Order: sequence, then structure tokens, then C-alpha cells
Amino acid sequence: MTTHQIVLIPGDGIGPEVAAATTRVLQAAEAPLRWVEHHAGVAALETLGEVLPEGTLDAVREHGLALKGPCTTPVGKGFTSVNVQLRKRLDLYAAVRPVRNLPGIETRYQDVDLVVIRENTEGLYSGIENEITKGVVTSLKVATEAASRRIAHWAFQYARDRGRKKVTVMHKANIMKLTDGMFIRCASEIREEEGFTDIEYQEVIIDAGCMKLVQDPTQFDVLLLENLYGDVLSDLCAGFVGGLGVIPGANIGEQYAVFEAVHGSAPDIAGRGVANPLALIMSAVMMLNHIADTRGDETCRASAVRIREAYNQALADGQKTGDLGGTLDTEGFASAVIERIEG
Ligand SMILES: NC(=O)c1ccc[n+]([C@@H]2O[C@H](COP(=O)([O-])OP(=O)(O)OC[C@H]3O[C@@H](n4cnc5c(N)ncnc54)[C@H](O)[C@@H]3O)[C@@H](O)[C@H]2O)c1
Repeated sequence: MTTHQIVLIPGDGIGPEVAAATTRVLQAAEAPLRWVEHHAGVAALETLGEVLPEGTLDAVREHGLALKGPCTTPVGKGFTSVNVQLRKRLDLYAAVRPVRNLPGIETRYQDVDLVVIRENTEGLYSGIENEITKGVVTSLKVATEAASRRIAHWAFQYARDRGRKKVTVMHKANIMKLTDGMFIRCASEIREEEGFTDIEYQEVIIDAGCMKLVQDPTQFDVLLLENLYGDVLSDLCAGFVGGLGVIPGANIGEQYAVFEAVHGSAPDIAGRGVANPLALIMSAVMMLNHIADTRGDETCRASAVRIREAYNQALADGQKTGDLGGTLDTEGFASAVIERIEG
């Protein structure tokens, strides 16, 4: 049996807590993984003197895959976002965030099943900011046709592979005619040129799109967005199904993939052992399925199925952390999942 070497980046704040809970769950499900631990964020700054050490990037390049906890970017000059840099340096251009109702979690909405696909490498997150003169600053939104076409192709292919019916691009091309105008033109051209016309396609101006989302999120299927809009809408969509504790994510490129929850390092609850580990557990399930899809290892798919069934059962049995109205702490929820894996 193959053992897959995975870079584990525990991260900051609640990161090490949810990472420890997640690796316990993976071990109980006999996932054939071996961890190679590296650091990023404040954890790396304190021990290695920089927020994104070359050694961490090299490890992901060597092993191809990483499971990552959230990283804090120190506020102030001199630090560009760790997460934005990691995604850019490894060219992880597609962020994928599935948003679905889960058993035992009551929300205002039922039957939500949508996927946020975010362009991860450019847009306003180019990080190019200048002070022109005192009191006047600029922040450049950079968009390229190549990146806009590549993410559009990825989104349509994702929709086709998973039998999804509709791709909706949310944009602000009425104001940002060049950047967002190009983004929607590329999406529509890719659909025509590459034969995705069986997939329904919709363009919605993002402010009206937000209203439509909160009125009825079930009318959406795959959402395709540039970087900033994708960041904001991911958290908004998390609110439909229980919050940031239940939304997993993957950052995928041609060569590497990094799996991480949508949530951040949650400084308000860090160190108390109460964070919900489910989002990172779900991200690990996405990683196992990714390994099965790309490396043909069905053992990983079997582990993914065991974990998903176990957390669904735990939630259905009312086993929940505080953010979901339950009483379990981080390790308590992991134990509830493990009990159900071990049957
Ligand atoms: N991918 C990443 O590494 C990532 C993503 C987002 C934010 N961040 C960083 O995280 C830091 C804090 O950001 P923030 O406060 O805006 O967002 P956050 O996601 O950390 O927290 C927002 C709220 O959600 C709650 N929350 C988040 N995850 C939770 C979980 N697993 N269980 C229970 N409650 C949870 C927090 O307690 C907080 O009230 C910042 O430094 C930010 O840059 C990192």
C-alpha cells in the first residue's frame, strides 16, 4: 500500500488545535498518510524569522500536497498576506469551497448545495499598493486574460465532472469595465470555444447577486468569482449552512494542491480548545478524494467515505461544538467522529 507524504502546516491561533484533531480522525480512518510538518504565519516568524519560509514552499513542491491550518498575517507594513503569497508562489489558482447543509445543523436555509470557485492569484489581491503622496494611496487590481480563461475553464470542467448544471459569474463589469469586463468575456468565450454549452451560464452583477443569494441560495449551483469577491462570498455562503466551522476548502494548481478551511486563526477563541475542527476535517476529506482522483488510490477514497459518514452521524446525533449550539470542545468532537469511525 502506498503511503502519501503530506506537508502539514498547523498554522496559528486555533490552527494547531484543529490540525491535531484532524490528524487523529485521519489516523482512525486508516488514511495512508505520513505527515511532514512545516510552518507558516506567526508560528514560522517566531521560529524561523519569516512568515513564509522557503523550506515550507519547497516541501509542498517536493510532496505536492499540503493540509494547512489558518495563518495569521501580522498587521502592519512589511508583511504581505501569508495565504495570498502561498497561493501565488505555488500557482494554486483555483480555490474551491463547497457549501452544503449538514445533518443536525438547523439554519434558515434548506437544500443549499453550491460551490464557490475563486480565482486565487490576482485581482485586487495582487498586493500592489502605493502611497502616491501623503493621504493618497492606490491599490492595483490586476487581471490577465490568461488567468481569467484558466479559472473559467477550471470551473466549467469542475461543473461537468461533477454533473453540475449551472455556472454563475458574479462581477462588477458595469463599473470595472476592463478587469471584470474581461473576466466575464473570458468565461463566456471558454464556454463557447470549449464546448461547455450544455452547462447553463449566467452573469449576475455582484451586489444584486448578494441579495439573490440571501433570498434563496438554492437557485445557485457553481459560483465563479475573481479573488476579492470570492473571498467575501465564501464567508457569506458559510453563513447559510452553519458558519465558518463547517466550510472546507482546497487551493488547486496544475502541480500542487493545498487543503485548508475557509476560516481564519480565530484569535478570539484560540488556545481554549473549543474551535470546531470540522471544516479542516472536511478539507482533509477533499484531500483524500483528490488523491484518489489524481493518483488512483482507492484506499484514500474509502477513508474519505468513512470519515464523512462518521461526521454526518455525529452531527445527526447532536454531537456538536459550541459554534453550532453544542457543548463539545475540539477534541470532544474529534472523539465523537472517531467513535463512529471505529463503530
Ligand atoms: N486561510 C487562512 O489562513 C485565513 C483565512 C481567513 C483569515 N485568516 C487570518 O485569521 C485571522 C483572524 O481573522 P478573522 O477574525 O477575520 O476571521 P476568523 O475566520 O478567524 O474568525 C471569524 C469568526 O468566526 C469564528 N470561527 C472561525 N473559525 C472557527 C471554528 N473553526 N470554530 C468556531 N468558531 C470559528 C471566530 O471565533 C470568529 O468569531 C487574521 O489574521 C486573518 O488574516 C487566515
